[in-house]
Amino acid sequence: MIKPFEKPIYVTRPFLPPIEEFSAGLQEIWDSQWLTNDGPVLQRFTRQLSNYFETDNVCLFNNGTLALQLGLQGMGISGEVITTPFTFVATTHALYWNKIRPVFVDIEPDYYTLDPEKVEAAITPWTTAILAVHVFGYPCKLDELADIARRHNLTLIYDAAHAFGVDVGGKSIAHYGDMSMFSFHATKLYHSLEGGMLTFQDSGLKQTLDYLKNFGFKSELEVVMPGTNAKMNEMQALMGSLVLKHLDEIIEKSRQIEILYRECLKDVPGIRFTPPLPEGTR
Ligand SMILES: Cc1ncc(COP(=O)(O)O)c(C=O)c1O
Repeated sequence: MIKPFEKPIYVTRPFLPPIEEFSAGLQEIWDSQWLTNDGPVLQRFTRQLSNYFETDNVCLFNNGTLALQLGLQGMGISGEVITTPFTFVATTHALYWNKIRPVFVDIEPDYYTLDPEKVEAAITPWTTAILAVHVFGYPCKLDELADIARRHNLTLIYDAAHAFGVDVGGKSIAHYGDMSMFSFHATKLYHSLEGGMLTFQDSGLKQTLDYLKNFGFKSELEVVMPGTNAKMNEMQALMGSLVLKHLDEIIEKSRQIEILYRECLKDVPGIRFTPPLPEGTR
């Protein structure tokens, strides 16, 4: 029998920036006494992410689940959506809360992402969108899914919860599909304590998403639509902004750990690794 470990061994632990950096940021928040509602730290963080992802079409949320839920709502997705069962439950829950019927299609065996060959057969007159997941940060079959979406006039949405920092063909994975959701939950390689982000192609969506995440407020006096509370606060924005500065070292450390796993497990019978990343993927 295997002897129990004396201390737990974690699959992953959140990256924490040096505490001095966080304290300096807290001082700024204490000075401004602005804790949430589109404060200066959030505005700065949003600009940093815009630069990082090379698009103005970013919208921040208090978590990835609500980002995805409101993203679907903002795009008016309804009826049936083709999606994957091999994901975290939040992908399907985001559909559920929009009264959308999830239609599950199996995954391909290499990277565990939605199998484009099976997607087409699942399309019905009620299908409005495909919601695919970049599982563990492995890019979906981007070209194949884009081709199916174009031919059938479907919206293509990516749950990119695991894919912060992934580039394909020289640009961020955020630039593929009509919309992508990134989770900044503490368990992710990149995080802001909790948090989420949508990136999207249609600039016109930004206003709707801003309303949806803030009770539909257009101004202090005017509510133009029903919304909810899904705003990111200043502490989250501060953490996100600091972790972003350390992103390269976090990715490099993770890469080294992966090399170790592959090396140490390679002779264990029954273990199969994902193939090397497709060319042009970082
Ligand atoms: C694939 C996937 N989708 C959605 C989510 C939900 O993100 P969040 O925890 O930020 O709400 C997660 C992670 O938690 C996830 O792994």
